[in-house]
Amino acid sequence: MKTKSSGTVIIDWKPDKGSDITLTKQIIGYLKGRIAKGDWLVGQKLPSQRKLAQLFDVNRSTIAESLSELSALGIVDSSFGKGTTIINNTWSLIFAGSTPDWNNYIEHGIHRPNNPTIQAINKFEFFEPITRLGTGEMSPDEFPCDLMASVLKRVSDLNISYNYLEPLGLYELRAGLCKYLKKFNLSVEPSQVLIVSGSLQALQLISLSILGPNSVVLVEEPSYIKSLRVFDFSGITMKNVPMDKDGIQPWMIDDTILKKGMSILYTIPTFHNPTGITMSENRRSELLRWCRLNQLPIIEDDVYRELYFDDPPPFPIKSIDTSGNVLYLGSVSKSLAPGFRIGWIIGPESIVERLGDIKMQTDYGSSSLSQWIMTEWFASGLYEVHIQKFRKQLKKRCFFMLRLLDMYFSDIATWNIPKGGFYIWLKINKSIPIEKVFHHALKDNILINPGDIYSFKKNNCIRLSYSYASNQDMEDGLIKLSNIIRKM
Ligand SMILES: Cc1ncc(COP(=O)(O)O)c(C=O)c1O
Repeated sequence: MKTKSSGTVIIDWKPDKGSDITLTKQIIGYLKGRIAKGDWLVGQKLPSQRKLAQLFDVNRSTIAESLSELSALGIVDSSFGKGTTIINNTWSLIFAGSTPDWNNYIEHGIHRPNNPTIQAINKFEFFEPITRLGTGEMSPDEFPCDLMASVLKRVSDLNISYNYLEPLGLYELRAGLCKYLKKFNLSVEPSQVLIVSGSLQALQLISLSILGPNSVVLVEEPSYIKSLRVFDFSGITMKNVPMDKDGIQPWMIDDTILKKGMSILYTIPTFHNPTGITMSENRRSELLRWCRLNQLPIIEDDVYRELYFDDPPPFPIKSIDTSGNVLYLGSVSKSLAPGFRIGWIIGPESIVERLGDIKMQTDYGSSSLSQWIMTEWFASGLYEVHIQKFRKQLKKRCFFMLRLLDMYFSDIATWNIPKGGFYIWLKINKSIPIEKVFHHALKDNILINPGDIYSFKKNNCIRLSYSYASNQDMEDGLIKLSNIIRKM
């Protein structure tokens, strides 16, 4: 909206002294009107106050009052001694008094606003002095800048197009991914893969295109998905299913609810968010058998698969799915870079095409640059090089946090010992309002993820992550957190 120019504007107008509208209002209206129409441009000067008073045939005080109002709106700058310059022609400023009631619109949108705690987390993550003890992302210190430089060089040497791509995403990426996924015992064709902007978009596409009113989404208790509103509209309901140390317990599902509409089960079987639990191999078979019997499709969210410390986790449920029961989600957000916004859905061709069609209607495809970059990460073998190094770093970070917990929390909480992933699920021994802990910690510049955002029930838990904060920050932050909990 801002077009720069210079010079003084030309005025050939006078206010109507016989009008009921005050002279000041008329002058402000006239000046705003000329700027909004684009007759006068940002950078141009208005005549001096003395000259304006002459031109409009009014007192200097009327001019001063009018300019001061325009200045308060941010439309002109009247710095002393420099005259008056137009600094903004943005419509929202100029028509400040007549903007629509956006609040009303916001309240009537289909998608509900985020949970306020999550809004606060999203916001405070970017406040400089904050220590992030719950962030589910790799620390920027762990990002392989040297490898990225090689990948970018390879991409820049390719003679490629950055235009829109075909509905399922870049063929080269889908083919490379199919090759890569063989190491997880997944045998997939590129036609069964849809590239998405992170697995979160995969969930959004699923909820938009294959679920509807009366659908039930069965999820682990607790679950990352509970913290999102992705299944929380258009009549879809979420029902929780308990877990034990081997993962979700399918026999606890009330199968009468399945008869009511199109239902689906969402699971994070590997390094579960937030509890860190990994579903055993037997439980994977058992779950698939139960779901097949009840014709219940499964969304398997496997974004943490690569992050094991020593032994790889059991193969995905999708790898034993011979009847197209499972929609498999993956992404590079946890293993490489969430900012690439690259993930994938693998499933039966008919479903993948349906989801791809909705995606085309939504955004015309994920960034082609990111897709080319990811293709090269896989093709060059550098992704594998990075991930092997990253696993070692992550294990060190995890052990460091576990030592701190032993020192500062052993008498006030219990926790799991992770074998991979990012999270430690800290259970506080006494019953305390976890929301209050969150706010007290925030006052001390510590950001935690309170457990109740992941749960259908109140709990005494905190999701800690060892993937983000530096050792020093982890230590300082955990000492303060332990003191806060002790005082409550
Ligand atoms: C289980 C799970 N799925 C999906 C996501 C979002 O991943 P993406 O960045 O690929 O959208 C997260 C992020 O925390 C997650 O924990």
